[in-house]
Amino acid sequence: MSLYAIGDLHLHFASELKAPGQLTDPVWRGHEERFLANCRALVRAEDTLVLAGDHSWGKNPEQAGPDLDFIAALPGRKILLRGNHDMFWDAKKTAALNGRYAGRLFFLQNNYCAYSDTALVGTKGFTFEGPFYLDRRRRIVGWDEREAARAEKLVARELERLRLSFEAARSDGYRRFVVFLHYPPTNILEEASGFTAMAEEYGAQQVVYAHCHGESRFHNSLEGLHRGVSYSLVSGDFLRWMPKRILD
Ligand SMILES: [Fe+2]
Ligand SMILES: [Fe+2]
Repeated sequence: MSLYAIGDLHLHFASELKAPGQLTDPVWRGHEERFLANCRALVRAEDTLVLAGDHSWGKNPEQAGPDLDFIAALPGRKILLRGNHDMFWDAKKTAALNGRYAGRLFFLQNNYCAYSDTALVGTKGFTFEGPFYLDRRRRIVGWDEREAARAEKLVARELERLRLSFEAARSDGYRRFVVFLHYPPTNILEEASGFTAMAEEYGAQQVVYAHCHGESRFHNSLEGLHRGVSYSLVSGDFLRWMPKRILD
């Protein structure tokens, strides 16, 4: 039995594509077929696959339907996290999505999922992405204060949601955790954040995140072991559409 993760499929079987680069960049060309073939070769029925957000360009559950059906038809148990582009998924209506896809997909929001003796917890997260101001040598010398203040509020809300997820698992007796975020756990200037602090507080083994796609963004946040927690990026183009093994 294995646990795998990947994010940022950005499917658009029945919706308008919002990132034209997806059509021209070779890593995205036919990515659905390559991803499907990789999953069929790698993931077995008893395995779990976490999809770390940005599943679909669909604006509502109807437009996202074919994309979610594509994911549901993949091998293994599928757990979905909200991404910033998942407009079809209103956080307050997660229970309705879980009802609609019961037995096919699990939507993780203010809840958790058990994987053997480990609880898979998570939320979308949030990261301040600028605008940053650069000097002539392209060093960051400042940033947009209003956007930074807005980001602080969004981070606080996501931290509350992550704590709800941890507490739901802990009250059921779980002491081992893997954290999934859509956004990276820190912004490009940080080495620590509320998310890294919470992962440490609960003794999480790993933090797995997506959202950083395009080569220039692959190293925007933590990777590898930091203060006892292992961090990894699982955006689909970074992984070349091959899900990453998280736990055996
Ligand atoms: Fe994305
Ligand atoms: Fe994203």
